[in-house]
Amino acid sequence: MHTLSTLAVASLAAVASAAPAAAPADPLRLTVDTATTYQTIDGFGFSEAFQRANQIINLPEAKRNELVDLLFNVTSGVGFSILRNGIGSSPNSTLDWMNTIEPNAPVGGPSGSPHYIWDGNDSGQFWIAQQAAKYGVKTFYADAWSAPGFMKNNSNDAGGGYLCGTPGRPACADGQDWRRAYAEYLAEYVATYHNAGIDITHLGFLNEPDFTTAYASMLMDGAQSADFIKILHSVLKSHGLEKQVHIACCDATGWATQRNMSNAILADKEAAPLVDVFTSHLYTSKIDSPLPSEGQRAWMSEYADLGGNWSTTWFNANASAYNDTKALAGDGLTWARNLHTGLTTGNLSAFLWWVATQDTATNGNNNEKLILTDLELGTYTVAKRLWAFAQFSRAARPGALRVSVKTTGTDGCLVKGASPLRTIAFHNADGAVSVIAINDGATDVPITVRSRVASAVSAEAWATDSTRDLERVGVTVDAQGDVSTASVPAHGVLSVIVRV
Ligand SMILES: *[C@@H]1O[C@H](CO)[C@@H](O)[C@H](O)[C@H]1NC(C)=O
Ligand SMILES: *[C@@H]1O[C@H](CO)[C@@H](O)[C@H](O)[C@H]1NC(C)=O
Ligand SMILES: *[C@@H]1O[C@H](CO)[C@@H](O)[C@H](O)[C@H]1NC(C)=O
Ligand SMILES: *[C@@H]1O[C@H](CO)[C@@H](O)[C@H](O)[C@H]1NC(C)=O
Ligand SMILES: *[C@@H]1O[C@H](CO)[C@@H](O)[C@H](O)[C@H]1NC(C)=O
Ligand SMILES: *[C@@H]1O[C@H](CO)[C@@H](O)[C@H](O)[C@H]1NC(C)=O
Ligand SMILES: *[C@@H]1O[C@H](CO)[C@@H](O)[C@H](O)[C@H]1NC(C)=O
Ligand SMILES: *[C@@H]1O[C@H](CO)[C@@H](O)[C@H](O)[C@H]1NC(C)=O
Ligand SMILES: *[C@@H]1O[C@H](CO)[C@@H](O)[C@H](O)[C@H]1NC(C)=O
Repeated sequence: MHTLSTLAVASLAAVASAAPAAAPADPLRLTVDTATTYQTIDGFGFSEAFQRANQIINLPEAKRNELVDLLFNVTSGVGFSILRNGIGSSPNSTLDWMNTIEPNAPVGGPSGSPHYIWDGNDSGQFWIAQQAAKYGVKTFYADAWSAPGFMKNNSNDAGGGYLCGTPGRPACADGQDWRRAYAEYLAEYVATYHNAGIDITHLGFLNEPDFTTAYASMLMDGAQSADFIKILHSVLKSHGLEKQVHIACCDATGWATQRNMSNAILADKEAAPLVDVFTSHLYTSKIDSPLPSEGQRAWMSEYADLGGNWSTTWFNANASAYNDTKALAGDGLTWARNLHTGLTTGNLSAFLWWVATQDTATNGNNNEKLILTDLELGTYTVAKRLWAFAQFSRAARPGALRVSVKTTGTDGCLVKGASPLRTIAFHNADGAVSVIAINDGATDVPITVRSRVASAVSAEAWATDSTRDLERVGVTVDAQGDVSTASVPAHGVLSVIVRV
């Protein structure tokens, strides 16, 4: 059997780059098979927790509208489709603390009547949620970093500690058990948002429960989480919220810890079916295989490059030549690869960046934001990695199924070990089929996309590389839905979408 050799791909690509205007003679063919399906996509998103929302709200109106449009618009912006809110647990809203709706312990302890206070602001997050909803966002993940301090053994929402009444932990003063009150408090947050016009669809009660720090934090292991999930579900049910709200767990610091927590929850046969989504961050360990699942979806619910200095770069060729992974960590192309790995190797249904916006003063102006804001000047600057998210978010809409795609030469033979492309494909709920191709190589790679979409009416493609941000690329589609005349740019990403 004939296989396209590395040499053939390389020389073909060299011709294409030497004479970019000429039609490529022998492109690679990406064939989508919509009959081979994988996970359902819930979307792509970010958080504006820790007061970051105010970095958008307090921009001059014109810039603020422009930035909101950039984040949420499905036809001209990134089209982010998930917003992750932090459920505040702190007594105040300053720096990285978010104020709670229950600042004081009820008289009479855990069984007393709670006094909830809704300030209509929620550390700026309510406003962001309203903007998202205007753009059609339907998935709102509310996640608590901790219970309020009075519910915990350390009397502080920050500094780790645990929820009083948690099994396997020493009893708190007077043997108080705050588990049910904490679940009621979380349900109250959901009800408050509902009354204000936003339906929370996903609810988490932990954030990095394996990490103690100076902002809101609370420790819990997998078995203890399984215990709390049963309480939370029964409380949601008592409020008629169990259908609206999917329980998510556990936002561990890394994939390996989350795997252990998921396993412990799955081992509890009562708790397992009550969890809909397993959520993980990737700070302490990366994705190497899918998380265990009995039908639960997997979300990468928070990650960012915390170490790197602020950089808007798409691809740092020098750092790549020196394999300087630290310098590459914030690059747009690196994030396109991270998204690809998460959705393929990790079986992810959602991929959420940490915070969208941040100023220069915070955390040494590192790379943890997608957009650098300057409230004094009233301006913002976009990092190219935002466009990596756009390449995925615009092509794989909520409800899309990931489907199979294979790369061959035009003769139909598989390209063995020689393809410079990482590919992924989706079958969207509206019938549109999309393919995203990432080119790791230094030369453009011409492709055709064979999707055999019945009643294809049009195709679009967008490219992002060092000089372009989701720029439209001309393509043609035939009656069978096969697309031609596109190139995956060197060190770049091309998304092709065939509409029906
Ligand atoms: C705000 O809340 C945090 C967390 O409980 C606390 O550490 C901090 O001292 C509080 N700040 C003020 C100004 O009260
Ligand atoms: C919410 O409160 C913060 C801090 O006081 C303020 O900067 C922001 O403008 C408020 N948000 C809205 C929508 O009023
Ligand atoms: C999104 O952008 C398009 C094109 O600029 C515009 O026509 C549309 O009104 C925007 N959508 C929303 C919800 O503002
Ligand atoms: C609360 O629990 C944590 C974790 O087990 C422990 O380290 C800490 O000493 C406890 N704090 C108090 C005040 O008992
Ligand atoms: C996960 O559990 C295994 C088996 O108990 C243990 O060896 C490993 O250290 C745990 N990993 C993490 C990150 O907690
Ligand atoms: C992928 O995730 C889905 C839930 O979205 C799950 O049903 C399926 O078993 C997972 N597949 C693998 C290989 O883990
Ligand atoms: C960030 O910049 C500082 C100061 O210039 C430098 O010491 C540090 O190595 C840089 N970090 C990275 C990850 O490039
Ligand atoms: C390229 O990276 C290497 C290794 O980090 C460094 O020594 C060199 O100065 C860099 N060159 C340029 C032009 O940035
Ligand atoms: C970078 O890594 C590649 C692949 O592992 C290797 O071939 C190359 O020699 C490395 N370059 C440097 C400068 O270490």
